[in-house]
Amino acid sequence: MLSTTILDTFSAIEQRRSIKHFDSNHQMSEDEIKKLLSLALLSPTSFNIQNWRFVAVTDKKIQEEICKASWNQSQIKDCSLLVALCADLNAHEKSPERYWKDAPKEVQGYLVPMIVKFYKDNLPLQRDEAMRSCGIAGQTIMLAAKAMGYDSCPMVGFDPKKVGEIIKLPSDHIITMMITVGKAIQPARVRAGQLPYDEVVIKNTF
Ligand SMILES: Cc1cc2nc3c(=O)[nH]c(=O)nc-3n(C[C@H](O)[C@H](O)[C@H](O)COP(=O)(O)O)c2cc1C
Repeated sequence: MLSTTILDTFSAIEQRRSIKHFDSNHQMSEDEIKKLLSLALLSPTSFNIQNWRFVAVTDKKIQEEICKASWNQSQIKDCSLLVALCADLNAHEKSPERYWKDAPKEVQGYLVPMIVKFYKDNLPLQRDEAMRSCGIAGQTIMLAAKAMGYDSCPMVGFDPKKVGEIIKLPSDHIITMMITVGKAIQPARVRAGQLPYDEVVIKNTF
């Protein structure tokens, strides 16, 4: 049974902040981790390719090793759950019919060959798709964590080669980012400086 404080969507978005200090004694239950990552699995992906692979690190020894490979940023070893958001660059060619198995036959018939054609031999596009999929899933994880009474921090400050070795990353996968999840023991600083709405929202054309 999950003990969740479900926030509405607007509140979760407004209250999500990057938290750097977590209670290192707090453990998330298996049910909570499963709920959080099951929600991430509902995130959209291009052609429903589901190219993300989430490495859920709760083992303190492994967290400590990853912490050393991440500029010693302490949130990595103090969080309850470290998620390495990885992506399979070759997801397009690994039985892609799985991604449309429940769709009508005629939909399967034209979509599945399109997936392979679209990504085949195009490494930049495969990497773009990895970043798009994991970026969207990352936000799902952070907002769902907030809704469940947890905080998070997205992270790119790590040595991808070293972290890849620690988590035994397959050679055709990449790590797009990591996210720490845990119980905050210090609030975030005030927002660092938001750009004005009119600078970043462009009406119709640049
Ligand atoms: C892709 C990405 C990578 C980040 N990497 C780190 C990191 O390595 N360490 C860190 O402390 N914060 C990291 N951050 C957090 C940002 O500094 C933070 O999101 C930003 O300052 C806005 O603050 P907020 O998330 O509290 O709104 C990262 C954020 C993103 C989106």
